[in-house]
Amino acid sequence: MNKRVELALNDQIEKEASSSQYYLAMASWAENNGLNGTAKFMYLHSDEERFHMLKLIKFVNERGGTALVPAVGKPPVHFENLETVFSLLLEHEIKVTESINNLVDVCLQEKDYSTHNFVQWYVSEQLEEEALARTVLDKLKLIGGDKGGMYMFDRDLENSAIQPTNPAGPTA
Ligand code: FEO
Repeated sequence: MNKRVELALNDQIEKEASSSQYYLAMASWAENNGLNGTAKFMYLHSDEERFHMLKLIKFVNERGGTALVPAVGKPPVHFENLETVFSLLLEHEIKVTESINNLVDVCLQEKDYSTHNFVQWYVSEQLEEEALARTVLDKLKLIGGDKGGMYMFDRDLENSAIQPTNPAGPTA
């Protein structure tokens, strides 16, 4: 496997692993604050990021490279409020999108068209994830700081179709 591409893929593996831990921390915080809908959303999102990581690990190894299982930093324990959580989620996803775009660039520069093809799945996934985070954040901005509104928001999230893709589901 092309060494620059391998390096970029391993960098992406680290980003997906960090995302998974970050969202797991958000899920745990939400669960401890009685926000069960948000917890469900974040647990699912964390699983999804782990699935993204696994898909990359398997691809690198199948192509003759060596996937590096990364150490990841300790995520925060406390978050200010729901709006902060979803703002951080969107911010984080925007950074992941930049990293995927960089990976696409490296594939093109190195003329590695099969990896380029593989990475397109991540390009589409990022579009969906950013759109989802923006939708949720827009709802939260409408609610403002209203406690009753937050309660309804969380309950709606628990029952809603607005959820990250289930990695075990058919679209994964
Ligand atoms: Fe796998 Fe949300 O980036």
